[in-house]
Amino acid sequence: GSLNSLKSLLVKNAKQLVLICKNSEKYLTKDGMQNLCVIENGSVVIGSDGLIKAVGPAETIRAQYAEALFDKVIDAAGMCVLPGLVDAHTHPVWAGDRVHEFAMKLAGATYMDVHRAGGGIHFTVEHTRAAPASDLLATLRSRLMRMQRAGTTLVECKSGYGLELQTELKMLEVIEEARRSLPINISATYCGAHAVPKGKTVAEATEDILRVQLPRLKERMSAGTLRVDNIDVFCEQGVFDLSSSRSILQAGKQMGLNINFHGDELHPMNSAQMGAELGALAISHLEEVTDAGIAAMAKAKTAAVLLPTTAYILRLPQPRARDMLDAGVIVALGSDFNPNAYCCSMPIVMHLACVNMRMSMPEALAAATINAAYALGRSHTHGSLEVNKHGDLLLLNATRWEHLIYQLGGHQELIRYVIIKGDVV
Ligand code: NIG
Ligand code: FE
Repeated sequence: GSLNSLKSLLVKNAKQLVLICKNSEKYLTKDGMQNLCVIENGSVVIGSDGLIKAVGPAETIRAQYAEALFDKVIDAAGMCVLPGLVDAHTHPVWAGDRVHEFAMKLAGATYMDVHRAGGGIHFTVEHTRAAPASDLLATLRSRLMRMQRAGTTLVECKSGYGLELQTELKMLEVIEEARRSLPINISATYCGAHAVPKGKTVAEATEDILRVQLPRLKERMSAGTLRVDNIDVFCEQGVFDLSSSRSILQAGKQMGLNINFHGDELHPMNSAQMGAELGALAISHLEEVTDAGIAAMAKAKTAAVLLPTTAYILRLPQPRARDMLDAGVIVALGSDFNPNAYCCSMPIVMHLACVNMRMSMPEALAAATINAAYALGRSHTHGSLEVNKHGDLLLLNATRWEHLIYQLGGHQELIRYVIIKGDVV
């Protein structure tokens, strides 16, 4: 094969090459997750357009492509190659950390105790409203770089610490700027319904989103000055109830946004059934989902984005990963990086998913790659090593890929290279 290129990359002779899947699956359910496609001694070819041109046994690739054609060759002997990780849920744009609240929570305060006392999201909203966009961009960039060093190559980024037009737009603009200036791939989410702003009722907040914020967002999207992919709501008792959540999500869907929201986290709200009915692409959290909710999500192919850090930090019941897998739900993972759960690392998230939620390592990896990409509507381009997908991959200093999950922390040493669209980043 000819590459006609000076910027192509060959990664050869990986001890293990984890493709995830190989038949253009858009997602995997339990059986597929348990039987990941792994090649012993494999190579990957990435073209100058950053897309995968070939992937397979090292012998086959060697016979098809002369090494001299490539601008760069990485010998991965003794290493493992995996697809870049996908983080399906983060809140990475904010000022005002909440290290003081961590102590309160360790002493027994619940998430909602802190929230009702004017802390939690409200604390971060005050600081984020006051912060200049340049400060928000600087901290966003360093957080995204940290995620990238831990192996994340596609990340969902939410707004939601403005709760009014001006700050929500400021956050989305900062996300847009990061998208343009960093190699990491971003899926942007409007989350104006993350909390009810102080001094407003749920009805007033919903009205503001429907009549003021969404129309303005729509203008910016059609003008091409802002790209937004998903719409999110915190559907929870004392936050947005089922019917206001439904109207906001429906309005977003009419604008072409994917429905991808927080549901059934602290109380069973029937969020899962509502989301399935609206054709949601994904619902996050689900610590309190019911059997009927699980069945509805399986049927609608609505992905469950499970967030092991939240349950761990807030000492919540664990999300029912096993029940969901058994029922055929598309299970994905996210870090939930936010001032409550300060975690930038998908390897730690997978580790927690295995230990606390009883997922197997192959299930956790599928949940953090192809299924997380599905939850963002990106699994046709991301989440596995297949021809024509983005050349996003990790090289591990280990001879078995499971080290990525087995080792708890310290991943800078383990992850030798992170490659995004063929560039070592
Ligand atoms: O996913 N549950 C709502 N939202 C976030 C928390 C955001 C915050 O506390 O700042 C979550 O855990
Ligand atoms: Fe969240």
